[in-house]
Amino acid sequence: MLGIIGGTGLTKLPGLSITHRQVIRTPYGEPSGPATFGELDGHPVVFLARHGYGHTIPPHLVNYRANIWALHAQKVSHVVSVATVGGIHPELAPGKLCVPDQIIDYTHARESTFAEYNGKPVTHQDFTWPYCVDMRERCLRALRAAGEDFIDGGVYAAVQGPRLETKAEIDRLARDGADMVGMTGMPEAYLAREIGLCYAAVTVSVNWAAGRGDSAEAISAQTIESTLAGAMARVRQVLTRLACMDYR
Ligand code: HPA
Repeated sequence: MLGIIGGTGLTKLPGLSITHRQVIRTPYGEPSGPATFGELDGHPVVFLARHGYGHTIPPHLVNYRANIWALHAQKVSHVVSVATVGGIHPELAPGKLCVPDQIIDYTHARESTFAEYNGKPVTHQDFTWPYCVDMRERCLRALRAAGEDFIDGGVYAAVQGPRLETKAEIDRLARDGADMVGMTGMPEAYLAREIGLCYAAVTVSVNWAAGRGDSAEAISAQTIESTLAGAMARVRQVLTRLACMDYR
């Protein structure tokens, strides 16, 4: 079954005919909210709002372990994460969708692994290509089917937040090779890898990163708001295409 993690601007899925909601207890505490089970265009999906249904949980306080564990416990096999970003690459203007293929993790002090001291030998999980190839391919197909003009591939810089970046920080991220910047990509992607979920992200550029484009002087909350509304309507079309695929 397909799991959808909705980020900013996607706390609800209007096209989803809800069958039930389920509070899932996990060894890692509470997920961001109950999992919402339902059908998109007649196909079953589980939806979880990363920041809670009232959008009250900031990026650094999201219980990523509980969210990923909860989806895994519901027999979810594939997960698409929808995440907003600031565009650093000149092609990632506000409104542009992207399926990143790489990550640089600048976050800190987040619970970032399921591996704990348990007396078993230590293992190290491969993360060379952080997103699941199969799920990335499905996202690309869904975007094409929805008629989207999107970018295939890019480096996602995961930052701690909740504050936005300085211009110098964005210049540094650009020098590091980052194409976009967001606050929630990690440790979510890694936890999915550890637990064996096939996970990929569709990112939505909602503003130029600090110091770029019309964010040269400041990032306008108004620009973000107006970009979000239109872009998420398009993302919902993409999610419906994803839901139609076979996940057995
Ligand atoms: N920086 C970090 N995270 C973000 C941004 C940004 O500019 N826009 C949306 N999420």
